[in-house]
Amino acid sequence: MSERPFQHPTLHESLRSAADRGEALGDVIESIAQACREIAGRVRRARLQDILGDAGSRNVHGEDQQKLDALSNELLLDHLARCPAVGVCASEEEEEAVVVRARGDGGEFCVAYDPLDGSSNIDVAVNVGTIFSVLPNDLDPASPLQRGERQLAAGYVVYGSSVLMVLSLGDGVDLYVLDPDLNEFVRVEERLRMPDRKRVYSLNEAYRDDFPEGYRNYLDYAHANGYSSRYIGSMVGDVHRTLLKGGVFLYPPTSAAPSGKLRLLYEGNPMSLLIEQAGGTADTGSGRILEVEPGELHQRTPVVLGSREEVAHVLERL
Ligand code: AHG
Ligand code: MN
Ligand code: MN
Repeated sequence: MSERPFQHPTLHESLRSAADRGEALGDVIESIAQACREIAGRVRRARLQDILGDAGSRNVHGEDQQKLDALSNELLLDHLARCPAVGVCASEEEEEAVVVRARGDGGEFCVAYDPLDGSSNIDVAVNVGTIFSVLPNDLDPASPLQRGERQLAAGYVVYGSSVLMVLSLGDGVDLYVLDPDLNEFVRVEERLRMPDRKRVYSLNEAYRDDFPEGYRNYLDYAHANGYSSRYIGSMVGDVHRTLLKGGVFLYPPTSAAPSGKLRLLYEGNPMSLLIEQAGGTADTGSGRILEVEPGELHQRTPVVLGSREEVAHVLERL
């Protein structure tokens, strides 16, 4: 049995100490954490259990669904539907939002999530993750279509060399590690602050000729000023590195994807809350991501997020 250094409270203990945000919000986060523990086990055993590769189905975006996409989605939906505080679930892998409980009988929250981000990397053991966003279920009719600034909590879990959770309840960003002996997430860092500058940019440069001119001007600036490039191709991995080490992550508009590829509700908004809570900036290229009024569930948004000064170097050229 590993000795847990006392200063590392479990997720449960730290959520209960933040109970001023309400016990029910803690219950939602713990449901997500339980689903992610089970997803982590599936990701680790995927090759052994032959749950890699295509599911032979396409999701609402017309993308080939990976077996682990579908499995992760089912696990999350199952745990969330069993949490009395969850009223509405909106998943990257479901065409419509699912009402799992009427408000009044619990159901205080909407949860929007990307059950498995970075699907193209699953088969090659590169970081993938789960991204989640918790909103109030206070619209009539119930809907998760709300500006990101209304989020009550946001976070992600990275399934990598260790299983990490980065979580904000709207007052700072904390880092948890899944202790494999305890099988509990334990808090190892509180109130993360990201560096204001770091000469690293992260985007898929293969699309350079397809970016609007301002982005190409930014790349010329970066190449002339000693920047290095880091790109994993999993948003959760690229954002996690950017959060911890600084730099700027971008998914600009292209002719194939005029609003960018990333989805606002369960990729752009949760990541933007975390980055802003850690002292960074998150922008569409023409305004703050968290202020975008969503019109539809799977709406896409361009993303420029990271260290304040690095994002400014991009925006001043757009
Ligand atoms: P998902 O696997 O949930 O569909 O997300 C994949 C996204 C995101 O993780 C990553 O930043 C982006 O796709 C990479 O896109 P490109 O392969 O076009 O660079
Ligand atoms: Mn994704
Ligand atoms: Mn996904």
